Amino acid sequence: MSPEKTMPQLAAGKVHIWKLEPVTGFQPAGWFGLLDEEEQARASRFRFPHLTQSFVADHARLRMLLGYYTQTAPQAIRFAKNFYGKPSFAFPETRLHFNLSHTEGLTLLSVCLDHELGVDIEAVRPMDDWQEIAATHFSAVENAELRSFAPSDRNHAFFRCWTRKEAFLKASGEGLSKPLDAFSVSIQRTDDPQFLTCDWDPEETKRWTLKSLSFGESFIGALALQHRNGADAWQLVVLDNSDFRAIVSTERV
Ligand SMILES: CC(C)(COP(=O)(O)OP(=O)(O)OC[C@H]1O[C@@H](n2cnc3c(N)ncnc32)[C@H](O)[C@@H]1OP(=O)(O)O)[C@@H](O)C(=O)NCCC(=O)NCCS
Repeated sequence: MSPEKTMPQLAAGKVHIWKLEPVTGFQPAGWFGLLDEEEQARASRFRFPHLTQSFVADHARLRMLLGYYTQTAPQAIRFAKNFYGKPSFAFPETRLHFNLSHTEGLTLLSVCLDHELGVDIEAVRPMDDWQEIAATHFSAVENAELRSFAPSDRNHAFFRCWTRKEAFLKASGEGLSKPLDAFSVSIQRTDDPQFLTCDWDPEETKRWTLKSLSFGESFIGALALQHRNGADAWQLVVLDNSDFRAIVSTERV
């Protein structure tokens, strides 16, 4: 592990991607108490205990990591939500921006300074209804590109398109209030996908940088970041459960 990875310092232009795998077996009893009232109520509403457990694990780890960066006790952090539900900091006052995404088997937390960002991760799985979903949610440009892939790559291509669109929607914070087929992203396998068109505001394509995130063949994800005017490109640093344990063991949580 590099020194940077043991004590991650978040500099301008860097994005930390926390790759948080499920907590198996013992879950620290104190984690539930780190959550605020709303999170505790949400945790209690799941019908299956394993879903409650993963919600508690994700939100406790979210708070511990945000607390680490902001030097704040995890339970003292307060979240605000915009009209569409995107969470941000209400307390403490900070330059930190974050976004969370969960899928079966993996949770991603992305953080950076001063810029909006959105992340989406999906476990790759067979999608029998991908054609209907693409016809309804993807733009004409995206549907044409999707059809150009060999059948063996279409499943992955579908998730590349889905996660790139979702990452942008999550970065902009407007959720599904915008028509999904009114903007287009490129679907090629590349680290730097393109934001091709945006019907409601063509300038929007210049405001965001898209990045691919792939973790083996099993998970496909994407990140959308507010563009850094005149600055060097974003640099992504991936951190994992062992980095998390290194931080938690040195922090009072
Ligand atoms: C809520 C939404 C923002 C993402 O939902 P999702 O993909 O099911 O969930 P993810 O796991 O990626 O993200 C959930 C997290 O994003 C954050 N979030 C919630 N609302 C958000 C918003 N409007 N913008 C950004 N982030 C948001 C929260 O931290 C949430 O975590 P929590 O539920 O543990 O509090 C919204 O876009 C949605 O409902 N999408 C449905 C999926 C869809 O139809 N996608 C079409 C893509 S073509």
